[in-house]
Amino acid sequence: MRLILLGPPGAGKGTQAARISAEFMIPSISTGDMFREAIKKQTLLGKQVEQYISRGELVPDELVLGIVAERLAQPDTANGFLLDGFPRTVPQAEAFDRYLAEKGQSLNAVIELAVDPEILVTRLSGRRVCQNCGAVYHIVTKKEKQTGVCDLCQGQLIQREDDYEATVRNRLAVYTRQTLPLIRYYQEAGLLFRVDGTQPISVVYQEIMTGIRERVGQ
Ligand code: AP5
Ligand code: MG
Ligand code: ZN
Repeated sequence: MRLILLGPPGAGKGTQAARISAEFMIPSISTGDMFREAIKKQTLLGKQVEQYISRGELVPDELVLGIVAERLAQPDTANGFLLDGFPRTVPQAEAFDRYLAEKGQSLNAVIELAVDPEILVTRLSGRRVCQNCGAVYHIVTKKEKQTGVCDLCQGQLIQREDDYEATVRNRLAVYTRQTLPLIRYYQEAGLLFRVDGTQPISVVYQEIMTGIRERVGQ
């Protein structure tokens, strides 16, 4: 199973990716998570991408394509993968199509999570993430059991640096300008289906599963 999750910042990609990857037993690959990990460790890549991410700009395509190729070469992708946050520009999508063609592989579906911008700002300013395992919470809609502590691993919950309102607004503008064209790109490829991401998390998940099953005939 090879899937892409597409949608603006805060649409719920990470939230849904965790469930979908568990269901199909495929790794969920988030370029954003990989970059944040590299920044935390202060690797060369981390230093190269830090400024872009803190401003809410996209990381240059070459850097993104490099880490994705490296990640997809890992053996755990043998049965497929779910991409969260990649591709994000038309050149990235074109490069990814060439990569798949070289491997004789194709995508099963591209899921678009649609949510209005005003809701996204509220979601992102209330988001908290586990510093240790990356699990996603929200101060109103998905509270942790013990304040400030991850339910899954007891790690500390923090606010992402790019979740302050001014940066969020820039990320939304960047999405409209650079990533929105991908919706048409995958529509024309006959791969895209849209899910209303403003519904409760479990309803969004059910609709995603139905959409995928319709496409793969399971
Ligand atoms: P990335 O990490 O990909 O961030 P993003 O796309 O901005 O998306 P988010 O992770 O903010 O949101 P999400 O859709 O995962 O929502 P979540 O599930 O957390 O990228 C970060 C940066 O890295 C980019 O800005 C860029 O600089 C760089 N980058 C990454 N990939 C790149 C690429 N390919 N090319 C270039 N640069 C790249 O949910 C959000 C909140 O809402 C949570 O609190 C959650 O609990 C809540 N929530 C979720 N679903 C629901 C629901 N149905 N109802 C109510 N609340 C909900
Ligand atoms: Mg995410
Ligand atoms: Zn955790």
